[in-house]
Amino acid sequence: IGLLGLVGVHNINFFTHKRKNDTFYDPMDKSAAKKRISELTQIVQRHDHLYHTLDRPEITDREYDALFTELQKLEIQFPDLALPDSPTLKVGGAVLDAFEKVAHRTPMLSLQNTYNEEEIRDFEVKILRQLGLKDKKIEFYCGPKFDGVAMELVYEKGLLTKALTRGDGFVGENVVSNVKTLKSVPLRLQWDQPPAYFEVRGEVLMLKEEFKKLNEQQTQEGEMPFANPRNASAGTLRQLDSSIVAKRPLEFFCYAPGVMAGIVLKDLVEFEALAQKCGFPTTELIAHSDVYKKTLALFKDKKINPLRPPLSQVCAGADEVIAYYNFIQSLRPFLPFEIDGIVVKANSLQLQEELGFVARSPRWAFAGKFEPEQATTVVEDIVIQVGRTGALTPVAVMQPVSVGGVTITNATLHNQDEIDRKDVRIGDTVIVHRAGDVIPEIVSVVLDKRTSKAKKFTLPQDCPSCGKPSVLMEDEAVRRCVNPFCPAIMKESLKHFASRNAMNIEKLGDRLVEVFFENDLVKTFSDFYKLKKSQILELERQGEKSADNIIKSINDSRETTLAKFIYALGIRHVGEQTAKSLANHFRALDSFLAASEEELTAIRDVGPRVAQAIRQTLSNKGFIKEIEKLVALGVNIEAPSQQKKGAQLTGLTFVITGSFAISRDLIKAMVEDHGGSTSSSVSKKTSYLLAGEAAGSKLDKAQELGVKIIDWAGFERMLS
Ligand code: IVH
Repeated sequence: IGLLGLVGVHNINFFTHKRKNDTFYDPMDKSAAKKRISELTQIVQRHDHLYHTLDRPEITDREYDALFTELQKLEIQFPDLALPDSPTLKVGGAVLDAFEKVAHRTPMLSLQNTYNEEEIRDFEVKILRQLGLKDKKIEFYCGPKFDGVAMELVYEKGLLTKALTRGDGFVGENVVSNVKTLKSVPLRLQWDQPPAYFEVRGEVLMLKEEFKKLNEQQTQEGEMPFANPRNASAGTLRQLDSSIVAKRPLEFFCYAPGVMAGIVLKDLVEFEALAQKCGFPTTELIAHSDVYKKTLALFKDKKINPLRPPLSQVCAGADEVIAYYNFIQSLRPFLPFEIDGIVVKANSLQLQEELGFVARSPRWAFAGKFEPEQATTVVEDIVIQVGRTGALTPVAVMQPVSVGGVTITNATLHNQDEIDRKDVRIGDTVIVHRAGDVIPEIVSVVLDKRTSKAKKFTLPQDCPSCGKPSVLMEDEAVRRCVNPFCPAIMKESLKHFASRNAMNIEKLGDRLVEVFFENDLVKTFSDFYKLKKSQILELERQGEKSADNIIKSINDSRETTLAKFIYALGIRHVGEQTAKSLANHFRALDSFLAASEEELTAIRDVGPRVAQAIRQTLSNKGFIKEIEKLVALGVNIEAPSQQKKGAQLTGLTFVITGSFAISRDLIKAMVEDHGGSTSSSVSKKTSYLLAGEAAGSKLDKAQELGVKIIDWAGFERMLS
């Protein structure tokens, strides 16, 4: 009864409330209003379902907001016509069954959205008017709007007892067993005499990089990839098996106070300091304007922890808020996690109280949304791209559309399964998505807009480049052209060979390689090193100077390293990292070429699939001949130097804990490359504990045992 009472009270408070200053619709006749309300109720319900449950939105956020607001306004004007199942009564997604349901002590609300500078100014005007402070300025605490999953953490007597999702805003699900596996969530407040009851709110999210890794793994295991990091986080938090959660790194950022017994705070700045003291990661205040200006630069140089860059800022008035909005927008592609705007909140908690709530949002806060990384456009054609590995990739060619500020025309459709799953047809209207540096992708088809002219597409059996039959590989969804002389494959391999991280033929960009190939100047790797200046001069638009430069950069590229050379060969599954491991292991080209599959598999980083691909490629006589020709033409391969793979760390055992700017695997490899070894638990034998951000129990243990503790800078010093 208590819980129901609580929910009931809020229903009355929030939903029957009328706004004083709102402009109402022109009086509409009641029967027209009734019809529209019922229509809108159904439409919004449908889009809620598409978005929250199916993750297949058919309209953009902004279009959704427009529908939602229209309904909300009509309901305010005609309260008796509002339907009992109106979507305006819900704050977020539906509440699901598997976890314990717990009522929030105060509801978890939504934010009103603004989309541009003008709307930001309007919002400020509205707030100041409500406060009776016309022509004055108030302080806004601004932070990034995380695109993750909202979370309320409850600490009783200092211990984490509940972790509640937003649910419908009033009742959430308790996913505490899963949240306990998050490294950034303290299980106990760092507080000697903690209050009896203490709540904070924040966002759980998955870093972009971890998201990519997870999806690769999902695909490999035959599972459906997640649509975006937000879905991956939500899906992970709702796992019934916490050990799976523990394996998928989720981050938590704290951004708001909840109910706090006996604690009086002045403003959000004070709250941030308290949260940090308790052990919660926040995005930190950009305290001084010079820091503010330098943040982007520092962030790019990774001099600050890139996972937790200072991002929040106190702004006085709309002008500063707008400057902040633009600043964060420019930072957005560089951030390691996804954000979809900024959140602007009255800094003073007293002003927040004064402003109160309207419907399902606070009046003291709003979101400044960024140009969505989603847009609607039309698929004009589907073409096939042949990749370096022979993969035939269908690519949708679309009407140009601006997404997140960049115009896009192409989006990969991956393979036939993907085309079938999304049911994309030529002529379809589709929603496209592009997040930061991520390749554009079709999210879904807008079925309502499909016409009878829409044409299904089936991948051809034959390679569009060489006309030879392609093969559908047993364990993959991809069709591949397996003709080693397919011109498309050869062209892509040559581009790869010349590229920066491979042979680094500086003056030979992709376009020029294509020209050389099409003019029969370069057909195989070794042809690069036979090129004559006179041949280049015969090409259109090539003058003396550029021909000289090209020849020079080809000559320069002859001096290379074993790792780069192996990478340049473009063997399937052999990326830069694997090529480095191979080079470090074999140290000379001949040993690499002679390696058996068993020997290859024994190397770190090389699995059976990779070993098999290497063996397969190297057993091709023509391929080996080509390598011999390269060497005969003066390609000089330097073995990995003995000093570099130094002995600085010989005999030392490291335990790595906490989070770092680079992956733990990479740090391990660095230790091993320098003669050291790593272990997963701290003991008396441990030489050093390498401690990163938010190091936990291992740090305590190391201190207890008197093990030497170093940070990243210390580690770097040991290597240098
Ligand atoms: S403060 C009344 N700060 O935005 C809500 N919310 O629409 C005030 N969100 O799902 C919340 N980043 O999870 C706040 N820095 C931030 C946020 C943030 C993301 C989300 C929140 C909620 C939604 C509210």
